[in-house]
Amino acid sequence: MTPDDFNYISALLKNRSGLVLSQDKAYLLESRLMPVARNSGMQSVEELISKMRMTSDSGLITNVTEAMTTNESFFFRDQKPFDLFRDELLPELMENRASEKSMRIWSAAASSGQEAYTLAILLKEAGAKMAGWRCDIVGTDISHEILDKAREGVYTQFEVQRGMPIQLLVKYFDKYDDQWQIKPEIRKSVAFKYFNLLDSLKPLGKFDIVYCRNVLIYFDPETKTKVLSEIAKIMPPDGMLVLGGAETVLGISERFTPVKGKRGVYELVQ
Ligand SMILES: C[S@@+](CC[C@H](N)C(=O)[O-])C[C@H]1O[C@@H](n2cnc3c(N)ncnc32)[C@H](O)[C@@H]1O
Repeated sequence: MTPDDFNYISALLKNRSGLVLSQDKAYLLESRLMPVARNSGMQSVEELISKMRMTSDSGLITNVTEAMTTNESFFFRDQKPFDLFRDELLPELMENRASEKSMRIWSAAASSGQEAYTLAILLKEAGAKMAGWRCDIVGTDISHEILDKAREGVYTQFEVQRGMPIQLLVKYFDKYDDQWQIKPEIRKSVAFKYFNLLDSLKPLGKFDIVYCRNVLIYFDPETKTKVLSEIAKIMPPDGMLVLGGAETVLGISERFTPVKGKRGVYELVQ
């Protein structure tokens, strides 16, 4: 790939999704874009890029952007953020919202749905104390293809084994051949929508708890700052933000500060 082609694609990706592609990751372009080229009847990634440069074909641009996203996810990823949800964030929020009895939770880079469904299962597991509560869980992502998988809620044995405790697996999934599908009651409790984190987040409404995990790592500092400041705008003063293990607000955003004793959890600076 010529340096010119690399620069064109990396600028396009940064602009569309925030993804920063360094030169040492150029090999990813070949492996991930070759299937896109073939599906569009082309023989090489060079041909694909040349067509994009000539036509600015929006379908190709979308396919290329989606192909370059990393959709790795699993149930109860890192465990601790979900223990904290069950034991601290949820009880605190229920206390604060005791009069309204309603809460909204956002999985901001939902990928194939494991994070949002983990939260939905934990809400269900909270049992009788959630009676009469309205809990909206919204999962958003920039990839249409991965959102279709999330909505379907079908996972392989390998995918469920990566984190889903066996007693919750048998309780909340139906087994079809060698696949597992989340039961309709849990599936229906999560709304999956296309949303680009680079856009204004206002149309999504307010969220009390935001899980924005393992996506900021792909952005440059300037983009992280902008996304965090947009997230701050759609949280109430007592809202909680949960980031991934390799992510922080420190040195990136003055809108949030870490919550003492709750690793990975951030609150708004009042
Ligand atoms: C590694 S997954 C993280 C999934 C989940 N949050 C977790 O921690 O397991 C990152 C997801 O971010 C999505 N993503 C990347 N850029 C995005 C953007 N600008 N707006 C919305 N989603 C984006 C990707 O499509 C991908 O599904």
